[in-house]
Amino acid sequence: MHFRHDLVPDDRDRVRAIVESTGFFSEEEADVAVELVDERLAKGAASGYEFVLAEVDGETVGYACFGRVPLTQSSFDLYWLAVRPGKQRGGLGRALVGEVERTVASLGGGRIYADTSGRRQYAPTRTFYTAMGYAQAARLPDFFAPGDDKVVFAKEVTVQQSLGQMAPGDCCPGAPTDSYVQDDRIRFFK
Ligand SMILES: CC(C)(COP(=O)(O)OP(=O)(O)OC[C@H]1O[C@@H](n2cnc3c(N)ncnc32)[C@H](O)[C@@H]1OP(=O)(O)O)[C@@H](O)C(=O)NCCC(=O)NCCS
Repeated sequence: MHFRHDLVPDDRDRVRAIVESTGFFSEEEADVAVELVDERLAKGAASGYEFVLAEVDGETVGYACFGRVPLTQSSFDLYWLAVRPGKQRGGLGRALVGEVERTVASLGGGRIYADTSGRRQYAPTRTFYTAMGYAQAARLPDFFAPGDDKVVFAKEVTVQQSLGQMAPGDCCPGAPTDSYVQDDRIRFFK
């Protein structure tokens, strides 16, 4: 398995196929997933959308889309995460989230938010986020529809967590060095 961060036009179809294959998302949601691919293809990093695609034997079998939340200092949204059903429970979701967290760490760290549904169908998804170290931060009753709550999971990602031991100033191009302190660890502070 390897990760790819750069998108090509054929990824529009690949992303749609992955999202649709899960059976978790409506056609409208699949359209939105592809719109984010289009935004990234058109505007690059300025789109605010980062992608991680997981490839196994030349096939794209899962992906994540995330980005810094506009007007926040260090909050990130995990907009999309999906793995093809035939490839689930093999560690790909864990690997994708790990790669997202490493990328967030390389951008200076922060808190990652993942929205999901409170419906029974999403119980495995909620179990997954909990297993990945995410804690429920909020539950908004009837957010998506009557009886369909929005459940927000969150996890703080530190620079040290994903990049290993580094000296202050050695890391994270573009990040202000005064955002870091050194105690026994190097840690990002909001
Ligand atoms: C959520 C999702 C991305 C997880 O991907 P995955 O590759 O199956 O996950 P992993 O194999 O890395 O699982 C990691 C851990 O999460 C937990 N987990 C994952 N799927 C689970 C399930 N169906 N039931 C219970 N626990 C589960 C387990 O603790 C698992 O570790 P283990 O296999 O060692 O027990 C995938 O199931 C998916 O695409 N679901 C449909 C779409 C979706 O819900 N996307 C999330 C955004 S709303």
